[in-house]
Amino acid sequence: MAHNIAVFSGDGIGPEVMGEAINVLKIAGARFGIEFSFEPALAGGCSIDEHGVALTDSALRTAKESDAVLLGAVGGPKWDDPKASVRPEQAILGLRKELELFANLRPVQVNRHLLHASTLKPEVLAGVDLMVVRELTGGVYYGRPSERRTGASGREAVDTIFYTEGEVERLMRASFDLARKRRKKLTSVDKANIMASSRMWREVANEVAQEYPDVEYEDVLVDAMSMHLIRRPADFDVIAAENMFGDILTDEASMLAGSMGLLPSASLGEGSRGLFEPIHGTAPDIAGQDKANPLAMILSTALMLRLSFGQDEAALAIEEAVDQVLGNGYRTPDIAQPECRVVGCQEMGRLVRERLGGES
Ligand code: IPM
Ligand code: MG
Repeated sequence: MAHNIAVFSGDGIGPEVMGEAINVLKIAGARFGIEFSFEPALAGGCSIDEHGVALTDSALRTAKESDAVLLGAVGGPKWDDPKASVRPEQAILGLRKELELFANLRPVQVNRHLLHASTLKPEVLAGVDLMVVRELTGGVYYGRPSERRTGASGREAVDTIFYTEGEVERLMRASFDLARKRRKKLTSVDKANIMASSRMWREVANEVAQEYPDVEYEDVLVDAMSMHLIRRPADFDVIAAENMFGDILTDEASMLAGSMGLLPSASLGEGSRGLFEPIHGTAPDIAGQDKANPLAMILSTALMLRLSFGQDEAALAIEEAVDQVLGNGYRTPDIAQPECRVVGCQEMGRLVRERLGGES
């Protein structure tokens, strides 16, 4: 039976990188005998333009009826009015919440061919292989109240970080299970010296840690973590963090790899259906110019093959194809280096397909 994939290309560079990723998937499917059916749907600014909301009920249904969801990126200056009640980001938050995708896996590896693409020194980057597990359906992203209001002294605004122990527990369990399959090291990030939610986070994390005595465990404050991440990134294995800390730390971590355009992510719940998206945004400044790096989106399809469909071999083949193209010196502008061959989004996609064994 064909794997049914809901495809939300989104805004900005989303459609360009998604186009390349789908074409790569088709080649992988042909090579490994995997059938896919693709169901396109709108999310984000494009949906606001078409339907007046970031995610329609029918688009959400498409996602819920799928075996996996691919998402490009959403948002852009056109829909950025801070006073607007309808915002593209609502689509992402809606999909994550409605599909109950509470664990967002963001692997960060430094490709050996790209040691010099980062702004950090190569010796700091050697051996970096970490996995951030970001809590995705709680915290300040969903806490209520979240509002603007007028008080005695004028304008006021409030946001709320809310977590239940159950939410922390399942995230920590997912993180420990992952650590067990990797280098058996887990760092839990919080701000327990200031926030009540973090103190509970740390308490629950420590309780779960008792059940995993084989995993080396530590708590680190988020401000210190942001420093350690660029000072000694190779020391970390799995890093578990609440929603916003994970959001911020993974943008920082992407610079270890050299570009946001390289990092895929997988959002998972209890079942096999996941949502797979690059961690980068819509890059409106280069949208439609064939300059975007499609590799994060392509690598997101590899995560989908592995984590939602159990197709490890096909996933690895895509990852190896990407590695070979980089090894041959091809670079999109975001990771361009002296003496490399700078190519556009489409050419990068074609090169990956060629390596994967399809048409050239
Ligand atoms: C991400 C993005 C999103 C987030 C935005 C676009 C809502 O930054 O996936 O990291 O904050 O979660
Ligand atoms: Mg982010």
